[in-house]
Amino acid sequence: MTSLSSSAPIPVDLEGAIQRLKKERNAVVLAHYYQESEIQDVADFVGDSLELARRGTAAKETVIAFCGVHFMAETAKILNPEKTVVVPDLEAGCSLADGCPAPLFAEWLERYPGHTVVSYVNCSAAVKALSDVIVTSSSAEVILKQIPDPVVFAPDRNLAAWVEKRLGRKFVVWPGTCVVHETFSERKLVELMALHPDAEVIAHPECEERILKLAGYVGSTSALLKYVTASAGRSFIVATEEGILHQMRRAAPDKELVAAPPDESCSCNTCPHMKRNTMEKLYRALEGLSPAIEVPEKIRLRAKKPIDRMLEMTAGLALEPTGNRS
Ligand code: 13P
Ligand code: SF4
Repeated sequence: MTSLSSSAPIPVDLEGAIQRLKKERNAVVLAHYYQESEIQDVADFVGDSLELARRGTAAKETVIAFCGVHFMAETAKILNPEKTVVVPDLEAGCSLADGCPAPLFAEWLERYPGHTVVSYVNCSAAVKALSDVIVTSSSAEVILKQIPDPVVFAPDRNLAAWVEKRLGRKFVVWPGTCVVHETFSERKLVELMALHPDAEVIAHPECEERILKLAGYVGSTSALLKYVTASAGRSFIVATEEGILHQMRRAAPDKELVAAPPDESCSCNTCPHMKRNTMEKLYRALEGLSPAIEVPEKIRLRAKKPIDRMLEMTAGLALEPTGNRS
């Protein structure tokens, strides 16, 4: 195995260098749809958070280079403790995970004895360790259908509201939100719809109700991609992080894709955490096998149980190839 010092210059042909390092380090590169397009193109697999968790466990390689945010890579490490899991940038966090610190969450849970604790995968290992089952945006409805009330749901209140509406139920909800999905402007979206009268609005369930009610279709990142590809529609206004547009354009080059507009106070609908990762940092991570994700064993074992439960509860299901119509 060639060992390069981390101060070695970054190669001009970064893509070629990353492909070479993948072989040398016996590494698989997994990337979320919100990664910059170059990273998606160099990855071995691009997916939503559930697909990435599944793909991580199937990996034969001894190293997983995880291009996403911290909780996603942490989930890969929890499921694959024997593998080295590296990330381009250890500081790539998530507003939902950061807004639900485990000590506060534990204190809050004391108010709800006898409730099943269902947590969205966008949370820390320590919060997962306090949970009974984990869900992702593509599996939340399927899993919650199988869990009787009373339920505590954390940490995304918008996803909770979406599933509550779909199932006609009420959960006790931790009031977290995603900084990206809560920025879409209803007023600007209505204006954009008037400019594109034939376009269908499609949205991620982390968006607020005022955006979701305008959407003809709501689903996870993968579900939105599949919907655009399979739908007879020619034009879509996409209300989620703009990284997904890269795969949509590749899969459906003939379709018109318009990014939903954020409000005045925000100039973009990109996830600042996801975009901390760069090709240069991915190269360095593969080169030095660092930074690596570590999870204390006690937490890992407790966090693994509700993730395993999610994987079991969704194992036989081809998860909504076209998501859920609103
Ligand atoms: P997905 O489960 O759709 O990949 O969503 C993850 C996420 O962080 C969306 O903001
Ligand atoms: Fe977290 Fe939102 Fe970024 Fe997804 S888009 S990783 S929920 S901050």
